[in-house]
Amino acid sequence: MLTVIEHPLIRHKLSLLRDRGTPTKLFKELVDELAMLMAFEATRHLPLESVTIQTPLETMQAQRLAGHEPLLVPILRAGLGMVDGIRSLIPSARVGHIGLYRDHDTLQPVEYYFKVPGDLAQRDVFVLDPMLATGGSAAGAITQLKRAGALRIRFMCLVAAPEGVANLHAAHPDVPIYTAALDRELNEKGYILPGLGDAGDRLFGTK
Ligand code: PRP
Ligand code: URA
Repeated sequence: MLTVIEHPLIRHKLSLLRDRGTPTKLFKELVDELAMLMAFEATRHLPLESVTIQTPLETMQAQRLAGHEPLLVPILRAGLGMVDGIRSLIPSARVGHIGLYRDHDTLQPVEYYFKVPGDLAQRDVFVLDPMLATGGSAAGAITQLKRAGALRIRFMCLVAAPEGVANLHAAHPDVPIYTAALDRELNEKGYILPGLGDAGDRLFGTK
């Protein structure tokens, strides 16, 4: 399942994010805001339970999130940029980390770090990465999470290429994909067009 989250605020902020003139500080703020807005939709399925509370006037049956806290898993580096925005909505969320980079020549993901809580099967897992290009990094990260026991996984990105969506669906048909935009295509170097460039470099000012 692919969900392109359509909202005027998301469209507007994504245009600012794509603009090559947007400086690092604003870029990070926009990624936070976009991730937070998207989380509203991507968490729609979270289960609730009934709880008795006292309002200042009377007792009522209310609802609260049930079960284990959700787990956010950013794919390093660029996925880190999406964590703060989502945590401002879900402060109790746990955070795992997967370190992957794309080999520049083969475009294959190379894993260098993996740290998640042990009770993955009990948690709703949100894998975060601003860019879904060939889909190799997302598919590799999700394979590792499934091996570690994760059962309910969702993938959130800001910009997706059709190639990445197709590859991720083929590798993990059970994993819903949420994106703020579905772009046109990949170029010969595996960059998304029109895209926003190298998300990690723009977030961390490394270019
Ligand atoms: C970027 C991006 C994704 C990956 C997407 O990371 O943040 O993780 O590329 O490409 P794919 O869908 O073709 O795998 P990169 O490998 O540049 O690493 P970095 O975040 O450390 O810069
Ligand atoms: N990774 C990025 O950061 N940008 C792209 O366009 C593709 C992969």
